[in-house]
Amino acid sequence: MINNGKVIFNTKLNDTIYYLRIKVPISFKVQPGQFINIKVSDDYVPLLRRPFSVFNYEKGFIDILYKVIGDGTKKLSQKKKEDILDFIGPVGNSYVDFFSEDESKEKNIYLVAGGTGFASIHFFAKWLLNKKIKFKLFYGAKNKKEIFQRFCKNFDMVIATDDGSLGNKGMITSFIKGNRETIIFCCGPQSMLKTIQSIRAYKKFASFESYMGCANGVCLSCVIKIKNGKDFDYVRVCKEGTVFDLDDVIII
Ligand SMILES: Cc1cc2nc3c(=O)[nH]c(=O)nc-3n(C[C@H](O)[C@H](O)[C@H](O)COP(=O)(O)OP(=O)(O)OC[C@H]3O[C@@H](n4cnc5c(N)ncnc54)[C@H](O)[C@@H]3O)c2cc1C
Ligand code: FES
Repeated sequence: MINNGKVIFNTKLNDTIYYLRIKVPISFKVQPGQFINIKVSDDYVPLLRRPFSVFNYEKGFIDILYKVIGDGTKKLSQKKKEDILDFIGPVGNSYVDFFSEDESKEKNIYLVAGGTGFASIHFFAKWLLNKKIKFKLFYGAKNKKEIFQRFCKNFDMVIATDDGSLGNKGMITSFIKGNRETIIFCCGPQSMLKTIQSIRAYKKFASFESYMGCANGVCLSCVIKIKNGKDFDYVRVCKEGTVFDLDDVIII
């Protein structure tokens, strides 16, 4: 569904990361793990929309947290207050589709966020907090500039940075001790998701980011491989995902 929303702010948080708020109709509904596909430019470059997880939704406002890495995100960073943004969404499934309140009473819920994967995990953390469901957030990034503690009020958290400038030094996955009582929800670089595959847990779910064309199930540019016995199937991250049972996914 194509939507238009007015930019409320598009604030630079550090050298490369921006925090964007868009006003949407109060009837707009979105769940944690879903994303929107934004037309970042009024001309033909870049031609394709760019996908971003919803970082937060409250009373008719969608927030996204994004890193400038190329032309599309640079153009997005130039959007100003009052500009109108054209986007498709919400797209994809949600962490909530895999969440059981009954299981959460008996198990330990761990959320794991790596880099900008924090965006979708943050929205899910707020959802859990709202429902008074206990969880622990493991949050890793390159350095302290890329950890946004200001958005983590009341989160039980473990932080790790590659350079040790905030929290523990090293990969966030080194600080997760899983067991059969643990349910993990995660989003981040594929290398992080691959490491999490080897952590013991009752269940693990991950939101995947892949290269997207249409974000509508048609172009197949976003496919990843899912185990099917000794063989595999292709699934579309934009349509069957973005959230999958992590143990089913073949990460190369
Ligand atoms: C479902 C989904 C949710 C996302 N949510 C967020 C978010 O919340 N915050 C955020 O900062 N980013 C997010 N991303 C990534 C974001 O969409 C890309 O960073 C953006 O599209 C890059 O556009 P660009 O034109 O600036 O860069 P491009 O010029 O397209 O690419 C610049 C460089 O980044 C690489 N690159 C681009 N996209 C990807 C990708 N999907 N995976 C791996 N490498 C890539 C390219 O190969 C190239 O080297 C998400 C992606 C997906 C699929
Ligand atoms: S992006 Fe086109 S099918 Fe997923």
